[in-house]
Amino acid sequence: MSVLIINGSPNENGNTSRALTVVEEGLYKSGIETKWIHIGKKAVHGCIDCGHCKTAKRCVFDDDLCNTLIDAILEADGIIVGSPVYFSSANGALCALLDRVFYSTCTWHQMFAGKPAAAVVTRYRSGGSATLERLHKYFLCSQMPVVSSNDFMAFKEISHEELSEYDRNILETLGVNMAKLLKTRVEV
Ligand SMILES: Cc1cc2nc3c(=O)[nH]c(=O)nc-3n(C[C@H](O)[C@H](O)[C@H](O)COP(=O)(O)O)c2cc1C
Repeated sequence: MSVLIINGSPNENGNTSRALTVVEEGLYKSGIETKWIHIGKKAVHGCIDCGHCKTAKRCVFDDDLCNTLIDAILEADGIIVGSPVYFSSANGALCALLDRVFYSTCTWHQMFAGKPAAAVVTRYRSGGSATLERLHKYFLCSQMPVVSSNDFMAFKEISHEELSEYDRNILETLGVNMAKLLKTRVEV
């Protein structure tokens, strides 16, 4: 089984990716493989509401990561989405991609139904809860079970200070819980 980790930060080795790496450790411990996609720094389109995806099940724009993400999510057994907090919400580039990913596949066709998902966000000061809520909405209107841990998935920047044992435990537990859910999941 394999979980797709989407780093929604332009920084491949930043705070968000560091937090996601700890979730990955929990998955590894439980025998689950991972695949990463970093959204990076390239320009992405916003949704233009053209309706192409209603029949194509893919976005009309094929020159950014959107359709690659769709195929990778379909292939994965579960997904973890990480984002930095930007003005108390998720990174706009990540949202532009996810709007198109989920509109193409889930709004019309519920193609990710039953696939467990979780969000992890990193911040400097405030906006963690609003950012988590923004990301959870993609999952909650797509019949994707949201995996929980033993505290909220919003973390203070971890570049300037060591990740505390407490935070490490929350992140690792998310990976372990995702693995447990995957192993007990019954296809219907
Ligand atoms: C454009 C921009 C807006 C930001 N807005 C917030 C914010 O509203 N609240 C906050 O706590 N941190 C904010 N930050 C800080 C980032 O969320 C934080 O440094 C994050 O951990 C960066 O993750 P990364 O290293 O994975 O890119 C902002 C950073 C940028 C670049």
